[in-house]
Amino acid sequence: MDKVPVSILVLDFDPRTLNVVATYLAQRGYSVQAASSAREGYIAALRDQPDAIIFDPRLPDMPGVDFLRRLRSDRRTATTLCIALAKNTDSALMAELMAAGCNEFLLKTPDVFEKLIVLLQPHPAEQLSAFNRQNGGLLVVFLSAKGGTGTSSLCANIAQNMVKAHPEMDVAVLDIVLPLGSIGSIVGYEKEFSLVQATAEPPENVNRDYLRHHLTLIENWDFRLLAGPADPEAASKVDASRIPALIRASRQAFDITLVDLGRSLSRISLPIILEADVVALIMAADLSTATLSRTVWDYLQTQGLQHQRVYPILNRVIGPEGLSKSDSERLLGLQIQATIPYMMGNFSLANNQHLPVLQRFPNDTAAMMVSQISRDMIRIARQGRS
Ligand SMILES: Nc1ncnc2c1ncn2[C@@H]1O[C@H](COP(=O)(O)OP(=O)(O)OP(=O)(O)O)[C@@H](O)[C@H]1O
Ligand SMILES: [Mg+2]
Repeated sequence: MDKVPVSILVLDFDPRTLNVVATYLAQRGYSVQAASSAREGYIAALRDQPDAIIFDPRLPDMPGVDFLRRLRSDRRTATTLCIALAKNTDSALMAELMAAGCNEFLLKTPDVFEKLIVLLQPHPAEQLSAFNRQNGGLLVVFLSAKGGTGTSSLCANIAQNMVKAHPEMDVAVLDIVLPLGSIGSIVGYEKEFSLVQATAEPPENVNRDYLRHHLTLIENWDFRLLAGPADPEAASKVDASRIPALIRASRQAFDITLVDLGRSLSRISLPIILEADVVALIMAADLSTATLSRTVWDYLQTQGLQHQRVYPILNRVIGPEGLSKSDSERLLGLQIQATIPYMMGNFSLANNQHLPVLQRFPNDTAAMMVSQISRDMIRIARQGRS
């Protein structure tokens, strides 16, 4: 979509929802057409060629996936913005829809209208390059209060998903976890260049060209990586005071920079956290991680971090048991934005094979969650800048 949509087709078999959504959009100046069955919607879509189609994927007369496939196979609606608006989370349905060419999958939650309005803006890539000119690329940092919560694995997988959803964007991952980086080993990076060389270079040389030259694209992952030190000996050579400038340079060079900060909450990492568009806080489902995360969040709040920028993720890294989502929320004092189920050995297997989870286990709920998270993060970052 390269222009602001003006005409929208809303398709829902529930007359109340149809009315609420259509009225909301009409009041915001869109020209809205309503339909209550797939047949009616399909005819209207081909005849009037709306700029966007919002549909409930559970239609009475045709599965939503078939409806979408039909739209995609017609030249007139092959690239129309299509947003599924579903009543319940259903990861299998979501996966099917996304594979059939659906642009977004949203739940009918109270804040869905805000999300819709953001999605109906012009293409993210366009907006992002406008941001780039003004403020530099988006910055997403990954942080945890305790080790082993899956921070690095999630950082790499979410980055890969962002590239997949926005192939036109240049995405970089910076592993600044000291003394040992781990994203290099997750993605199978074997080159010499790392944080050690990047921080040894005189700062005036570390510019866009330098980073684009040294941060090579990683096979299967399609983002660029600045790997952390390969051993503690190398880590001792890293001049950490150079890291903030390095991140600034990366934001000038790339559309999105994701930074793995690990457990670090230091003089170096604090300004990076405060500068970030989104702060992913990765929690495991145990009491001590939750309590420590609360301490970290309380501290960050005193430093001026707004809750809208924090994106807590509950990752069931140890097993299916442990704290419930609501327990974690209560202990943390923030809403959990996403929960990653326990993947048994699968996450480690994907990591050991240096493959993204989405590629290795595309039907696993964790893979769906990772796609949802990456879309949410871009949306939050855009909202924060608008
Ligand atoms: N949802 C999950 N289910 C099962 N295993 C997981 C899950 N998430 C991560 N893991 C596994 O947990 C281990 C730790 O992950 P990772 O190294 O990403 O964590 P980390 O928080 O970055 O750790 P560190 O503190 O060492 O930096 C890895 O073996 C990873 O494959
Ligand atoms: Mg790590």
